[in-house]
Amino acid sequence: FGVPTEAQAATGFTAVAETTADTVTVPPGYSFQTLLPWGDSLFEGDAAWGTGAGEVNAGNMTADEQERRIGFNHDMLALFANPFGAPASANGQSHSAYIAVFNHEYTTGSDMFPGYSATTARRNTVDVELAAHGITVAGIRLEGDTWVHDKGMRVGDTPDGALVARRITGTTRFLVDGPAKDDPRLSGPVAGTLNNCAGGFTPWGTYLSAEENFNQYFANASSLPAGTTKDNYRILGMTNGASQRRWEKYHSRFDLAKMPNEGFKFGWIVEVDPFDPTRRPVKHTAIGRFKHECATVVVQYPEGQTKGKVVLYSGDDERFDYVYKFVTDGTFDSANPRAKGHFSLLSSGTLYAAKLNADGTGEWLPLTHANLESKAAGAFADQADICLRTREAGDVVGATPMDRPEDVEAPHTPGTFAGTGKVFVVCTNNSNRGGSANRPTGTVRSGAADAANPRTNNRTGHIVQITENGNDHTSTTFTWQFYLLAGDPKAASGAVGDVKGTFFGDRFGSPDNITFDNRGLLWIATDGTPNSYPCNDQVLCTEVAGNGKVRVKRFLVGPYGCEICGPLFSPDNTTFFCNIQHPGEDGQPSSFPNGQKRPTMVAVRRTDGGIIGN
Ligand code: FEO
Ligand code: CA
Ligand code: CA
Ligand code: CA
Repeated sequence: FGVPTEAQAATGFTAVAETTADTVTVPPGYSFQTLLPWGDSLFEGDAAWGTGAGEVNAGNMTADEQERRIGFNHDMLALFANPFGAPASANGQSHSAYIAVFNHEYTTGSDMFPGYSATTARRNTVDVELAAHGITVAGIRLEGDTWVHDKGMRVGDTPDGALVARRITGTTRFLVDGPAKDDPRLSGPVAGTLNNCAGGFTPWGTYLSAEENFNQYFANASSLPAGTTKDNYRILGMTNGASQRRWEKYHSRFDLAKMPNEGFKFGWIVEVDPFDPTRRPVKHTAIGRFKHECATVVVQYPEGQTKGKVVLYSGDDERFDYVYKFVTDGTFDSANPRAKGHFSLLSSGTLYAAKLNADGTGEWLPLTHANLESKAAGAFADQADICLRTREAGDVVGATPMDRPEDVEAPHTPGTFAGTGKVFVVCTNNSNRGGSANRPTGTVRSGAADAANPRTNNRTGHIVQITENGNDHTSTTFTWQFYLLAGDPKAASGAVGDVKGTFFGDRFGSPDNITFDNRGLLWIATDGTPNSYPCNDQVLCTEVAGNGKVRVKRFLVGPYGCEICGPLFSPDNTTFFCNIQHPGEDGQPSSFPNGQKRPTMVAVRRTDGGIIGN
């Protein structure tokens, strides 16, 4: 298991051609199905989605209804074998019962409600949108060749288990832990999770969800007095006047003029236990507050041991922002994965930001109070302040501003989560690289191209491969190289600023989320290919070929106006899952999946039931 370094032709499928068709296009010998679309009920006995008598649709839905139904704009997806730890297959049959947990990044009222306008939206519309945010937990089951939504599934897949189905929304109460837990800026109720983009999952069976562009929900940042809070809100892009959605009209917590600290309650990694609905979801302040894209977990076991520290990687998806990792103080015991102590592992540890040097070396710079004091005495009151104002801490230590770090993934062994020492950082694009800096902070940003972000106006993005020193994920030093620069390998020149891809095969732009199959091949889902090429967003399989160059092969193209999120293989690799986010966004012509555009999950299988991509 690992990243291929030798000559290899592991992909047996026929590449899909570029297309703008309003459907999911897969290779010959493959078929797709949709499941768990926005609006479907999670519970047996609820009304169907539709416009018939007694049916529920966006035009008549109440917030209470949306709380019982699948949310909007699916993003990250994780699958947990049910019962916990069940093997991928037995007696030649794929394991069939899973708890699917997935994010709902954001809502666009105009793509949801007939006649929508933010300025005239009624309270019920706003509350439906709040309820359409967050996370869905649902049972799914493989029956023959088809995945079905099992509304009655119970934890453990036994009749006496708790019901799996559950929603976490923009109003669900959260616990807070870590260094900033008792900071006055987090006092009062912490309600809801917003802009849940990607995330991760842990070997103790929990789901991690990353709060990303939470700034967009807040209004009137300009009303704050000068100071660190106002600076932080400006750095994060909080709106000075009315917010785009105007939720502040009905919910004063989104009006910073009325509740100035509310913006600190978002921008965290949150943890949900799909195997125990009575365990309250938690926001982990130790991992820092920024526009988290993801939260990828590996465990670093000392040689021959079964207990190891947990290492979590996360990117801050903004132009010129940073890559982070978090190393826990405590250890995970692989012999007892559901041990109670594991549920507080992410509350205590050391947070680092990455510095990528021009010579291919790099450092993880500790964001500890002692280190910050040595560089800018008095800039941060304590560790809580660093956790709350993490971007500013990254500025002070001199982390490397990257081209919008989206997914950061590390191949790891199922079950134990042992890593390989390799980490892949996906930089999706940066239209300002080479131009002016986008967030003045007191640290001057040149915005110029540099070794790790080599293209001005980087519109197609790139993937950096990090190798931790000694293949040890807890190391504070590493080396790095490009896995690939995205673009068109057949473009005229490879000059900086061009979009020539440094690979061979199928062109693409704006890589976002990635995943690995059981052979260690890296698969890419894109968000922004249509900005560069006449092709909808897509999924591509990559492998390192004999000459060391990466080969890229297009596996799937999504419907018109969508982005592809949450790429994931079933544990036995006989199904490829992804989420179709915002088909036909902003009024673009899409009727995917079935007449009405609805974000939805997609499952792709070979018609002969074989291994995907073989
Ligand atoms: Fe929500 Fe960074 O993508
Ligand atoms: Ca998105
Ligand atoms: Ca993303
Ligand atoms: Ca993106």
